Amino acid sequence: MPAADRTPSIHPDLAEVLFTDVQIKERVKSLAAEIKAAYGEQEFTIVSLINGAVMFTADLMREIDNPVRLDCIRVTSYGVHTKSIGTPQIIHSLTLDIMQRHVLLIDDILDTGKTLKLVSGLIRDLRPASLRTCVLLDKKARREVAIEADFVGFPIPDKFVVGYGLDFAERYRNLPCIGVLRPERQQPSAWASG
Ligand code: IMP
Ligand code: MG
Repeated sequence: MPAADRTPSIHPDLAEVLFTDVQIKERVKSLAAEIKAAYGEQEFTIVSLINGAVMFTADLMREIDNPVRLDCIRVTSYGVHTKSIGTPQIIHSLTLDIMQRHVLLIDDILDTGKTLKLVSGLIRDLRPASLRTCVLLDKKARREVAIEADFVGFPIPDKFVVGYGLDFAERYRNLPCIGVLRPERQQPSAWASG
């Protein structure tokens, strides 16, 4: 069936779809071209913030033909909340040596900015040759600390979104689209015993 004839059914827990899988794929491709233009033929090290950035990182790096290395950092998650509480903490840090290396830090979404600020600081302390940052989504309205990403997939409004790696209480990461979670599904009790 041609793609245009398929009407994607919306997940019942989503109030609206912001970006379909097709739109994400297209933007990831053009974002990869922007990144490629910045690095030329250089090798760089991708540092991905897990779990949220797994899908984005996997798709983005397959669109980039530079020599790349991959490492991951795990930061404390929101748990069963939709807003960041307190200061994020690093749970698992880098394995690769990044001194004198070009580093591209990738996250799923830039919200208050606390996570990206914390991790950028940690990376800078390890004296890389350069550091650039890339996020799929940017919720500018919620910024609390002064930080912007060098590469942004889509700016989004101040709504809690899930899918394509983004979660609520670890659910919905496997949705191929990105959508706004229904308010009644944003309660900790919605998943307390799940
Ligand atoms: P920040 O530290 O407030 O910028 O938050 C960044 C982290 O919060 C991201 O890595 C996400 O894991 C999470 N986050 C922020 N907004 C959302 C959202 O709308 N849906 C899912 N996770 C989010
Ligand atoms: Mg996350």
